[in-house]
Amino acid sequence: MYNVNAMTDKEQNLTILGIESSCDETAAAVVRNGREVLSNIISSQIDIHTLYGGVVPEIASRLHCENINGVIRLALKEAGMGFDDIDVIAVTKGPGLVGALLVGVSEAKALAYALHKPLVGVHHIEGHIAANYITHPGLKPPYVCLVVSGGHTHLAVVHGYRDFELVGRTMDDAAGETFDKVARAVGLGYPGGPKLDKAAREGDPHAIEFPRGEVRDHPYDFTFSGLKSAVLNHINMAQMKGETISTADLCASFQNAVVESLVTRTVRCAENYGYHTVAIAGGVSANTALRRMMLEECEKRGMECLYPEPVFCTDNAAMIASAAYFEYLDGVRDDAFLNAQPNLKLGSTGSHRI
Ligand code: KG4
Ligand code: ZN
Repeated sequence: MYNVNAMTDKEQNLTILGIESSCDETAAAVVRNGREVLSNIISSQIDIHTLYGGVVPEIASRLHCENINGVIRLALKEAGMGFDDIDVIAVTKGPGLVGALLVGVSEAKALAYALHKPLVGVHHIEGHIAANYITHPGLKPPYVCLVVSGGHTHLAVVHGYRDFELVGRTMDDAAGETFDKVARAVGLGYPGGPKLDKAAREGDPHAIEFPRGEVRDHPYDFTFSGLKSAVLNHINMAQMKGETISTADLCASFQNAVVESLVTRTVRCAENYGYHTVAIAGGVSANTALRRMMLEECEKRGMECLYPEPVFCTDNAAMIASAAYFEYLDGVRDDAFLNAQPNLKLGSTGSHRI
């Protein structure tokens, strides 16, 4: 762990170009000292993947190839900078879609080599956690962080900037994946999370009592497959009986069940560890009901509840540049052997403990 007091002037003044291409956003950002965003460009491929009802990996890779240079150019332009002003090149190395990751990793390696700049490969989930340092410049570890994205549901105790203890995870579907699947089942389409969030605002969260999955003897783990099946059964039963169901009520009730599972475990973890700060991160942390319930439950216990601005919840490169800042200060340097690591686990780099 680096000693904040021992940082040199140069280390405190680092401008990092971040690159993110792990899924369906091609993104580049310039961030100073891990917390000050000078530019944040995101080229979303959502419109194209929507035609297929989900992300098509081969299309994602091709679009990253087409867009990445333009996105980086725009990020530098918006920051009012050239490559000479950049101290470090940072890139998402995993987890994610292998072909998509390779585009960003290859681009970053080429830039670092051609410009003689240091290269730092970043864990995507650590990037999501770091998004909170951007929105909350005063935030310092330790704290508890719930990371909820399309592919991951992790409960982590952040002991230090690079010291993560993974205490809970999903046993089956990720929270975002469950949102997307239920949204598709009720005909809201892709991407389901934000659409379901919106539809739920008109509904009654207590209209249908859906199950809250428990993982026996694992107080911090999550399970959503039972809930997903219960929702699908509810829809099928209604169809068989010829009953019409209120999409708003169904969405609100489902969302309430997911959010309650997430909040209960996160708050329990913070209480048991004796930490007074709870953060949420990842695409699902943009969810209105999750933010509201987490805030309420934290306030009741005298805890602080933090979440990133919506633009830093979903995939972006500013969070990658932010995480890279702490990696760089801790001595992390990558080289031409850096590779895409599609199945990278939280706990497989840095000084994590599991
Ligand atoms: O972090 P992210 O952009 O990509 C991954 O790393 O997976 O998360 C995307 C996920 C999707 O499943 C999307 O439906 C979900 O985040 N999401 C939401 C909301 N906004 C995005 N889920 C619920 N409510 C939202 N408002
Ligand atoms: Zn993500």
